[in-house]
Amino acid sequence: MQAVHVWDVLVRIFHWALVAAVLLSFYTLKTDGAPFLFPIEIHAQAGYVVLGLLTFRWIWAFFGTHYARFRAFLTSPKTSASYAQSLIRRQPTPYAGHNPLGGWAVLILMLSLTFQAVSGLFLSDDIFFSGPLYGSLGNAFSNALVSWHALNAQFLMVLIGLHLVAIAVHAALGERLVKAMFTGVKTFTRTPADAINVSIRLPIISALVAILAGIGMSVFFWLQ
Ligand code: HEM
Repeated sequence: MQAVHVWDVLVRIFHWALVAAVLLSFYTLKTDGAPFLFPIEIHAQAGYVVLGLLTFRWIWAFFGTHYARFRAFLTSPKTSASYAQSLIRRQPTPYAGHNPLGGWAVLILMLSLTFQAVSGLFLSDDIFFSGPLYGSLGNAFSNALVSWHALNAQFLMVLIGLHLVAIAVHAALGERLVKAMFTGVKTFTRTPADAINVSIRLPIISALVAILAGIGMSVFFWLQ
């Protein structure tokens, strides 16, 4: 057995905080509002948290630890196709970080979530609530975004569903991805294709910049 430290502590906190904030933003729309007095405001505030978390993650994807970076997990179409073939043969090539298909899925999820949170800033429900940027690019723009916000939310649900299916498939093949997102460590019987020899050490300056940018983004919109 070979243990690889894959997910640094910031990626793990980011991941579970994102799950909580996205769940809250959906929940506040799907109920009659209980237990919240103004569910649309909680919806928006959860969205500001998503925006802050994504700000952190976009920076971390370029300046973070090895496995958190795009260059570690966005692979060529050829590598992605050969990984897909290994998956169909039920003998997937082991990857420590995101596998080639998972890597592209992560990028699409980040883009879709970013669009969702940013578009929300321009919306109004015409009754109780207007986002902080509502009308700033014209009411017609805000009105057009309403249907894109709704459509992309459905796309997001499909992506989240696929994410859960992928986790279940990997669990059936003996890979415990959820546990790794808590502990940061994955264990392998074969050496992963993307194994590296260096340890995962936090680059302190980029960590501070990414965390402050993320918190700043959330707080900025929260205070509007
Ligand atoms: C990741 C974050 C977000 C998710 C997953 C999300 C999801 C959704 C969903 C599913 C709807 C219902 C669409 C429909 O079927 O009509 C909705 C509506 C809405 N969202 Fe968001 N949203 C997010 C962020 C935000 C943010 C940041 C704001 C405001 C600052 C916002 C403001 C609104 C408003 C005002 C509506 C109601 C629009 C209407 O009344 O037609 N959302 N959102």
